[in-house]
Amino acid sequence: MSMTKTFEIAVISGDGIGPEITTATSKVLEILSDKYSFSFRFKEILAGDRALKETGHALPSNAIDEIKKCSCCLKAPIGETARYVVLPLRQELNLFANIRPAKTIPGIPSIHSGVDLVIVRENTEGLYKKIDDISKECAINVRMITKEATERIMTVACKMAKERRKKLTIVHKANVMISCVFFRNVCLEIAKNYSEIDINEIYVDNAAYQLVINPQQFDTLVTTNMFGDILSDEAAGVTGSLGILPSSNLGQDIAMFEPVHGAAFDIEGKGIANPTAILLSCSMMLDWLGEKYSISDAKQAAKDLENSILKIYEETNIRTPDLGGKNTTNDFIRELLSIF
Ligand code: IPM
Ligand code: MN
Repeated sequence: MSMTKTFEIAVISGDGIGPEITTATSKVLEILSDKYSFSFRFKEILAGDRALKETGHALPSNAIDEIKKCSCCLKAPIGETARYVVLPLRQELNLFANIRPAKTIPGIPSIHSGVDLVIVRENTEGLYKKIDDISKECAINVRMITKEATERIMTVACKMAKERRKKLTIVHKANVMISCVFFRNVCLEIAKNYSEIDINEIYVDNAAYQLVINPQQFDTLVTTNMFGDILSDEAAGVTGSLGILPSSNLGQDIAMFEPVHGAAFDIEGKGIANPTAILLSCSMMLDWLGEKYSISDAKQAAKDLENSILKIYEETNIRTPDLGGKNTTNDFIRELLSIF
């Protein structure tokens, strides 16, 4: 008798274009699971603008516990309430590593070709920690950088760089901020365990500049929370569009996968949202599930999904309007399903 693994996925379908790209995505995952030896059980978690309206809380109190019961979480973009949902999720689930690969995709116009980098963003502290104060005269955000969080993000980055092109850049602003001096020093201490990787450092302002003029020089970048946020949108601009960038938020035993883009209220309900970023996030999710449960079929499915998406861009003219095309979300999904 063969056993079929069922992955329990907590799904936050979000706001704006969130629900429509989530519906499209679950269809893709269902079909994909028919082809492989695993299945999905989706558990809808209400969070975001809709949750605030219906329950009075953007992140209802049982949401975190419900997610913890699942294998992982798939999250679509949240609207106005994003920071009341995304930040508590990342911090309370201790999803300390935000992995944001930015790769040029053949067939998608971009200002550079041949870019393949990954931003490893610290995801639990820095300016996002919400240690703040405000009065009529002044507002303060404390930027806390701890040894523990820095060591673990640098370790993740070193392990990734080792599997990639063995080049790691530490991004900071140590010429101005003491918390960056600390971040850099802790990173360099960890670096001593990875002599096989070429490790260098760069000021964040220069990193922003270099990303625009010569992004091919980068492979793995490790940085603090806010810098990682800003540089990842920039990396999306350099490689084509925010509509294609996926991400994972990795914790010890749990993870959350989400597109880097936002809720795009301007095109909500029109059926023209680009599902690429959330689908590539699903590919990252399948790979993580495969690793976690030692199911090689899931890792295979991750590759299958990614390659099929790339094939659409390489071999067809199907493009949603954000990429200058006239196709709908459903056109894209239909094509994808025909490739599987
Ligand atoms: C992101 C987003 C979030 C962030 C917002 C929505 C809180 O911009 O995931 O990049 O700042 O991290
Ligand atoms: Mn962002």
